[in-house]
Formats: sequence, C-alpha cells, structure tokens
Amino acid sequence: MVHEAFYDPTSPEAHENPYPLYERLRDEYPLYYCEPQGVWVLSRHADVKQGLRDWETFSSAQGVEIGEYVQFFGEGSIQELDPPHHDTVRKVLAARFMNKRVKEYESMVRVCAEELIAELIKEPTADLGSQFTQSLPILTIFRILGIPDADIDWAMRSGLEMLSRPAGETGPSPRAAQLRSELVDYMVDQVESRRNPGEGNAYADDAFGDIAAGIDAGMMKVSEIQGLALLLIAAGMETTTSLMGNMVHALATGTVTPEQLLGDNGQVSATAIDEFLRFDGPAQWLARVTTRPVELHGIELPVGSRVLMSFASANRDPREFDRPDELVLDRDGARNLAFGEGIHFCLGMPLARLEARVGISTLIEKAPAFTLAAPPTRYPSHVIRGYETIPVSFDASSAF
Ligand code: HEM
Repeated sequence: MVHEAFYDPTSPEAHENPYPLYERLRDEYPLYYCEPQGVWVLSRHADVKQGLRDWETFSSAQGVEIGEYVQFFGEGSIQELDPPHHDTVRKVLAARFMNKRVKEYESMVRVCAEELIAELIKEPTADLGSQFTQSLPILTIFRILGIPDADIDWAMRSGLEMLSRPAGETGPSPRAAQLRSELVDYMVDQVESRRNPGEGNAYADDAFGDIAAGIDAGMMKVSEIQGLALLLIAAGMETTTSLMGNMVHALATGTVTPEQLLGDNGQVSATAIDEFLRFDGPAQWLARVTTRPVELHGIELPVGSRVLMSFASANRDPREFDRPDELVLDRDGARNLAFGEGIHFCLGMPLARLEARVGISTLIEKAPAFTLAAPPTRYPSHVIRGYETIPVSFDASSAF
C-alpha cells in the first residue's frame, strides 16, 4: 500500500501528542502500514473492539509489543498467551483481583496514601509524580504480591528503571535486561519459598502464594513465574500511575475542580475516572498477530501480520463518542476500551479504579491546594502515556 508516512508509535511526535495523528489514521487510513516498525495499525473503535474480541484471528501468543520488546516479560505472561493455557494461568490469580476481594485492600491503600501525603506536604513543593502517583500503585501491588517491606525500595527502583523505554528506542537496554533478570530471580525465590506449605497449612495469603498454589496444582510451570510476576508489576505500576497523574495534573492546572471530580459520597466518582481513562488512557495500544488472512478496509492482511490495536485512538473516535476531544466528567464512559476487551480484559481493573478513587480523594482531602511549579515530564515510553514527574507548589493557606 502506498501512502504518506506520518505515524510511527515510537516517534517523538507520537510521544508528544498522538491525538492529531490518530484522527488522521481513523479518517484517512483506518488500516495503516507503519513501515519503519513493520506493523499495521487499527484505530477505529469498531475495528479495535472487534479485533480484540476475535482472539483466534488476532493472537497474542507472538507478543503484544513491537521491536525487541516483543515477549520481554517472558514465559507465563498471560497477556502473551492464547487459550486454553491463558485461561488456566489467569485463573491462578483471578480470585485475588476480583472486585469483592479488592475491596479488602481499601484501608491498606488509604493508609498508604495518607502516609505518602503526610510526608510530601512537609515541604512547600513536591513532585506528585515520584512522591505520590508512582509510589501508591507500586507499594500497593508489591504488598499484594507479598514483597517484604525491607525489599520494596530496591524492587521499586529496579522495576521503574527496567520499564523505562525512551522514545525512538525499539529494544530494552542491557541495563533493563540485567534488572529484569535480578527481579525474576528474586520473585522465583519468593514463590519457591511459599510452595508445598505442608499438611494442614494454608498457602500464604498473597499473590506469590497464589502462584505457588497454582504450580503445585499443575496449572502452571516454575518457568512461568517470571512472565506472570513481571506482568503484574508492569501492569500494576505505570498504568495506574498515569491515570492518577492525569487527574493530579488536571487539578494542578485548574482544568478540573475537586467539586467536579467528587461524587455525593465525597469520593472521586466512577464516571470521572472512566472519562479520564477514555480521554487520555495509560495504555495507548497493544499488538496482535494474525493467524489467518484477513481482509479489512479493502486490504488483505497475510498470516503473521502484526497489528497494533490502538485503544487510545478508539476512545477518541467520533463514530462512537460525542465531542470525543472534550473531557466530559459525567459522560457515560461504559464503551471505552482503556482496559481492553475480550479475553485479555484487564485483570486489575477493580484495583486500578480503587487506587485512583482512594488516592485522589485522599489527596484532595489531606493536601493543601496545589498548582504546577514547573512543566511536568512524561514517561519515556511508546506504549504507556502519562506523567513521570509533576512538580507542584502548595498553597498552605487554602485547602482544595
Ligand atoms: C488504569 C490502570 C490500568 C489500565 C489502563 C490497564 C489496561 C490494560 C489493558 C488495555 C489490558 C489488555 C491487554 C491486551 O489486550 O493485550 C490489560 C491487561 C491486564 N492488566 Fe491492566 N490496566 C491497568 C491496571 C492494572 C493493574 C493495577 C493491574 C494489576 C494487577 C493490571 C493487570 C493486568 C493483567 C494481569 C492483564 C492481562 C490480562 C490477560 O491477558 O488476561 N492492570 N490492562
């Protein structure tokens, strides 16, 4: 197909502001070939939704990333498995991340948010990125995994550095590969220490314990600990950070007021959270690979074509949403694809929503009003879109 080359997901332009590019993709090239990366791009809501539902045609088993990041997490990452094994391994963790179970984590998340805020408001300025929106999801997922407090600082630094993906780079650095291997060794030890708890003893009540039980029950292999545990860390870290970061940024710039975010119960409303996810979702896209020839928009895709499913473009599609480029906090966001669709639908959705609701509500309640003190910086990632740093100054004389 011959057309003007204007979209590359790894380009600085896409990193800076991908939305005008998405509009052009949807309107002019709903199936676009990005030659530098050798990938196709689907950008309309109906196409992305249909493609994600049809896992038999659009498989995840050959990895959901591009370049050398493909299958970076390794064996066991359910995001990169097809049924039936996908469903079996997902079951190992499913109960822990169900809505009912996740509610039990609410007080832990609240206490953690309160402690972080108490610390950061001691100074007149703070970086609400590293000191809050990053720390809260990381501390939460590490506690759910079962990482002991003494190791959390090390695991947090290693995880963040491992996941950093500078714009224009299509492969992990040697440093990222080294950190990945250190984290994997550590997590394999954690799981192994929880296996076969002995007659009459329960498995440890944490996600490492669930994985140990899954291995002992023959649902997954020891060699799959790496992919599953790394996926939980990655999925649990930057995504929720980015969602919360967008909300913090909107408060700091006055784009939204606390009154607009908070529902009748004094907590950030579910519709506001959905709308932030729709408007500028943390996961911009993930890929699939075709297992049979497919015809789309008059183009025949051969077997083995890598296709980016652009969640973020789908969520701005005017064919699906009225006034898609406006942040409308009471919008019915039920159809947005920020958490994906189909069998790979985000396992952590209840947790992400809980963290955003409790985290931002607690910030509004406990911190003085704040405004941006310097320009924020974004994650150097081509998949995840969100703020890494959000420097603010507090106005000690007024609450939000
Ligand atoms: C706002 C925050 C989050 C967003 C926007 C998000 C987004 C997504 C998306 C789009 C997918 C689908 C991937 C695909 O189709 O290939 C996904 C899958 C997944 N997410 Fe999340 N996620 C978030 C938070 C979390 C959290 C906190 C966890 C922690 C447990 C998590 C765990 C997972 C897992 C394990 C999968 C793979 C599910 C499967 O393949 O069956 N996510 N997420």
